Amino acid sequence: MRKILITGGVGFIGTNCVQYFAQQGHQLVLVDDFSRVGVKQNAAYLRQHFPQLKLIKASVQQPAKYLTELKQAQVVIHLAGQTAVTTSIKNPQHDFNNNLMAGFKLLETVRKHNPKAVLLYASTNKVYGDLAHHQFKKDFSKEQYLNLTVPQGVTEQEQINLISPYGCSKGAVDFYWQDYARIYGLKTVVFRQSCIYGPFQMGVEDQGWVAHFSKQILKDQPITIFGDGFQVRDLLYVGDLIQAYDLAINKIAQVKGEVFNIGGGVKNSFSLLNVIELLQKQTKHSVKVDFASARAGDQLYFVSANQRIEKLLGWQPQTKFVQGLKQLVAWQKKHL
Ligand SMILES: NC(=O)c1ccc[n+]([C@@H]2O[C@H](COP(=O)([O-])OP(=O)(O)OC[C@H]3O[C@@H](n4cnc5c(N)ncnc54)[C@H](O)[C@@H]3O)[C@@H](O)[C@H]2O)c1
Repeated sequence: MRKILITGGVGFIGTNCVQYFAQQGHQLVLVDDFSRVGVKQNAAYLRQHFPQLKLIKASVQQPAKYLTELKQAQVVIHLAGQTAVTTSIKNPQHDFNNNLMAGFKLLETVRKHNPKAVLLYASTNKVYGDLAHHQFKKDFSKEQYLNLTVPQGVTEQEQINLISPYGCSKGAVDFYWQDYARIYGLKTVVFRQSCIYGPFQMGVEDQGWVAHFSKQILKDQPITIFGDGFQVRDLLYVGDLIQAYDLAINKIAQVKGEVFNIGGGVKNSFSLLNVIELLQKQTKHSVKVDFASARAGDQLYFVSANQRIEKLLGWQPQTKFVQGLKQLVAWQKKHL
């Protein structure tokens, strides 16, 4: 049994982490400031189903408020933060405080008080920017962009290109996390995550787009697509992501200091239009789609190659997108 501290613990990935790690008998401490709209519902669910867990309502920016727990944790999973590119452009200071400042303070506090802890960080594929130097082709029959430069997906060797305040703040913490393994020997691992989806996700137009589309369709509300809808994403079911976290914790000696691209991979790659079509079939609702101008820096295509994580952790995505989508829709029908 380990003591695992999860920042952003009542958010989407956090709530799924609690379900997974609590079932394995670990002791859990959550730190969350409840700033994400809708997460109070997750908190109520967790309190009801896991009464033994400790939930501290605090900002990660104030480590003093959870220092005792942080000193005792064997594992820290850092998920808390500002999660939307659009919000970061509207309010870069808020993004800086909640991502860069908070992430740095957490890392420093662990270095000073608990340097043996395993430290996982939920980074993002946005650190690779818009991949504008790649060659793309529009495939009208699939309603998708193809990436002719990396048809098997993006590897960790891809050039870093920090676009948007969100890209900068997440990318900076990603680099600090790696550096603290090099310079101070901390047991850090970085996951550069593609789009994650699943139950407990409070998707909104700005972030969590699969859950947002699904919710709009169930409520018979229109969807706005920014761009032409041919943008491709590899979609990873949240349960598969957490399996990777678990593997990294158990194999920390082999993967300390590593950075992994992680996503649904080529087999779970779909365009926005493809996902709308699948959702309409699954829910038997039809939806009105409006189109607006593409967002600055939006990736036309992002698919994670997943080669390095497969090699070092033996990890591959297990959940086919159509199956994972059913789980999400079923949860939304019951809870939203
Ligand atoms: N969901 C995805 O598709 C995805 C993809 C790539 C990276 N990520 C990263 O994974 C992490 C978790 O994402 P998620 O989808 O679960 O998001 P989420 O918004 O559901 O969860 C984040 C949680 O952090 C909390 N929070 C925000 N700022 C905080 C602060 N300063 N102190 C304490 N709590 C704070 C929020 O209230 C929320 O509960 C984020 O860091 C995000 O950038 C997510």
